Amino acid sequence: MLRECSVVGEVHDLAMSHHPDSQIGEVSGLLDGDLLALQGQLRLLNRYLTVQDHENAGRIAASLPQKFPRHPDAWRALADCYRREGRSWNALGPQKKLLELEPNDPEHYFNLACLYCELGLDNESLTAYFQTALLDADFDQAYVAIGQKIRDFRFSSTQPILYPVLERLIAADGYVRPSSVAQAVLSLLSHDPLLEPLLNEPNDVAGVESLQAAIRNLNHLPLLHTLMKSCALPDLRFEALFCRMRRVALLSLSELEISSELLDFLSTLAVHCFTNDYLYPERDDEVALVAALERRVHLGIEGSESIGLTDLLCLATYRPLHRFLPASSVTLLDTVPEVKQRIFSEPLTERALIAELCSLGEITDITSIKVRRQYENNPYPRWVRAKVGAEAVSADSVFKHSALRFQPRSELNLTAPEILIAGCGTGQHAIESAATWRDSKLLAVDISLTSLSYAKRKTGELNLENIEFLHADILDLRSLNREFDVVECVGVLHHMRDPKTGLRVLTDLLKPGGLIKVGLYSELARAQLTSSRRKASHLGAEPTDSQIREYRRRLLDAGGEELEALCEWSDFFNLSEWRDLIFHVQEHQFSLSQIDGLLDDANIRFCGFENPGLIEKFKNFHGDSSSIYDLGAWQAVEAHDKSLFTGMYQFWCQKI
Ligand SMILES: C[S@@+](CC[C@H](N)C(=O)[O-])C[C@H]1O[C@@H](n2cnc3c(N)ncnc32)[C@H](O)[C@@H]1O
Repeated sequence: MLRECSVVGEVHDLAMSHHPDSQIGEVSGLLDGDLLALQGQLRLLNRYLTVQDHENAGRIAASLPQKFPRHPDAWRALADCYRREGRSWNALGPQKKLLELEPNDPEHYFNLACLYCELGLDNESLTAYFQTALLDADFDQAYVAIGQKIRDFRFSSTQPILYPVLERLIAADGYVRPSSVAQAVLSLLSHDPLLEPLLNEPNDVAGVESLQAAIRNLNHLPLLHTLMKSCALPDLRFEALFCRMRRVALLSLSELEISSELLDFLSTLAVHCFTNDYLYPERDDEVALVAALERRVHLGIEGSESIGLTDLLCLATYRPLHRFLPASSVTLLDTVPEVKQRIFSEPLTERALIAELCSLGEITDITSIKVRRQYENNPYPRWVRAKVGAEAVSADSVFKHSALRFQPRSELNLTAPEILIAGCGTGQHAIESAATWRDSKLLAVDISLTSLSYAKRKTGELNLENIEFLHADILDLRSLNREFDVVECVGVLHHMRDPKTGLRVLTDLLKPGGLIKVGLYSELARAQLTSSRRKASHLGAEPTDSQIREYRRRLLDAGGEELEALCEWSDFFNLSEWRDLIFHVQEHQFSLSQIDGLLDDANIRFCGFENPGLIEKFKNFHGDSSSIYDLGAWQAVEAHDKSLFTGMYQFWCQKI
């Protein structure tokens, strides 16, 4: 569901209404004696709260603002008291009064945001979280909350005051997966007066002058540069603009006036194209020019021709330099350290890390071999930052207190769980789990060495010491002779020849009562994709990157409903993910009744879906007449809303 985020427009006015700190004391206007009286009342209130005498606590809290109307503590006590009683609407008045008295205090905005959140007032809550971050740029919890709230927002006007907050949200490790907020951020940037005309008329960037003018404009938007370096851009207007700019740069390379703006732009674009796995379409004349440039760069490295940094950067916007330039040529990028790091040093580090990975033995299953080949060539996903910043939580208390149906078992150790991540890919999910589950120890396995080495590099960068990686086929894991408290396997089983066999192996590795999280494709949610897969099947089982890119280019040229539907999938905007979406060598899809059978076969019991937002939809559909643990009842909800499980069926089960 998309919401227009008009309320965020008010942030500017609120932010401008600060009073200097020195006024707070004057505002309260209390004499020493009154202050002592207030402190006495607050102590009494605390005592009542400690012994859970809510009646007397409520009476005192209600009297405080009358006695001390200009003192913030009086209003704070009343707001807290209402919130403790679950009376969020009543708490709103005192909380706003508190803000009137102390408009500089980011904590007050944060509490107001939490209140709005409890009341389901999403726009207001997002506004107040922004306000918090604007008042205190280091207020971590506000960023985490903005990261969660902003995903489905689309901005309808320009609001540059928000740029620094969003830039930090994306650039800092830990708050959010940048890809999850990319659409929201692009919707905001698309209204910027420097960008809007370029997006509307990308073909106006036709020659050197218009290219350099566009680059100067974009240079004023560090938020855009940061986003481009962090994830793919899921918006065709931005794609059209950057394809155009890349093309004009290539066609007029010798005429480009070298400036810091030009080098910055080409650097950002080179990192961006590396991040989207060189997805952008290429016209025939570009292919020929890139080949010529490639030859020139090789001659330059040998010393028989002179090449400049712009040549190298321009080539890097089309081709992965680390794949065909000798490691010794890395010094050519010394003056652009971020580019050097991202597109050259990191891939070389990954290549070296492969030698350090342990393996359970040869992959022998025919399907696993084919699937492995795909993910060796196209590791999934190519991520830059993960959500690892929130405080680690105890799996024990989460399972005991969440809506998941869970029966505690003495055999399980959820206070220090051993966790298996089966099919960890490039590690984003494993790393987030390692950071989330307190005192956990993880074993993450995958059949793709390039994916594992990516995961290992990122784990080292984030200083996580509780993950071990292993090259292994799920089918062979019984030979580990180990048992786990928890197994997580998301987006993997449907790529095995027989998902049922894979699931049985995993449940055999669980301790009695152990928990397993599974993510599987929904047949209903992917119906449109199935038709696109069929159309693309003439390319054969394992098309090359350039065939995949070319096929996508033809879809872009054709436009229409299929393209529109594909654009709804973020996977459409990264080459490896696009391959995963439409050209996968092995894909199964499921209905909920098939999943029911799968769980029966593996002797595990459905505990509930992971995403709490789904429960609200279930309740809207069934009221209280059906159980959220009944897959048959969920089937009716999905039949009504076929896109309910677009992000896969992701659910927890417990071993019986
Ligand atoms: C779509 S990716 C999902 C990665 C990760 N779970 C995530 O959610 O980001 C599927 C991963 O499963 C791995 N995989 C597929 N079949 C496997 C098998 N039989 N054993 C181990 N890993 C497998 C692939 O190599 C690939 O990295």
